[in-house]
Amino acid sequence: MKPTELVTGLPGHPTHPPLTDVTIGLYTGAAAFAVLSALGVAEQNLAVAWWLALLAALVATVPTAVTGLLDWLKITRGTPLWRTATAHLLAMVTATVVFLVAAIVGHGGYVDREVTTGALLLTLAGFALLTLGGWLGGTVVFVHGMRVLGEKDRPTADAVRPDATNNSAGGAPQQGLTRAGEGRHG
Ligand code: HEM
Repeated sequence: MKPTELVTGLPGHPTHPPLTDVTIGLYTGAAAFAVLSALGVAEQNLAVAWWLALLAALVATVPTAVTGLLDWLKITRGTPLWRTATAHLLAMVTATVVFLVAAIVGHGGYVDREVTTGALLLTLAGFALLTLGGWLGGTVVFVHGMRVLGEKDRPTADAVRPDATNNSAGGAPQQGLTRAGEGRHG
């Protein structure tokens, strides 16, 4: 294992995607709590839950963004994959800034146990940007195939640990991105 793989993950097991699940889950919870609180459902409790979920999501964003950034740095500049991944980066950074502003603007409301209109609108705007960024991230993986090995016929014992063997099913796992920029990437 290369030292950087401790952060970016092994071939076939990148760390960025599972971290995005945690981050997106927390932001989604925050948005849902904000809407429900604004609608008067357990208003005070969900206002507290909204702000704490937002805070947890912002913390989770740090390792998520770092792992994504390390993968992004391996992409060849100017390729279609790079353009899609850069659009993903911009959408996610913008979403993060909007959520951060929502947490700062909404802190007073959190103390008073209410989600203010401004904080609600900022949370929803952040969520819209997060959805756009998630769509673009999905494009990076499921359309361009970044970090996908795609070895359907690889025996299960090898497939669960694709870096353990060297090319048992017609193709050595690829580490990071190559000059080609697209296709199968470890
Ligand atoms: C809040 C922060 C972020 C979230 C929630 C997020 C979310 C996602 C999602 C949903 C995917 C598709 C993978 C899947 O469906 O499991 C993805 C892939 C990807 N994202 Fe992000 N992303 C974030 C930040 C970043 C940043 C800042 C960068 C680059 C600087 C980045 C670069 C990438 C790359 C290169 C991929 C392709 C797959 C991989 O490398 O693991 N992401 N991201």
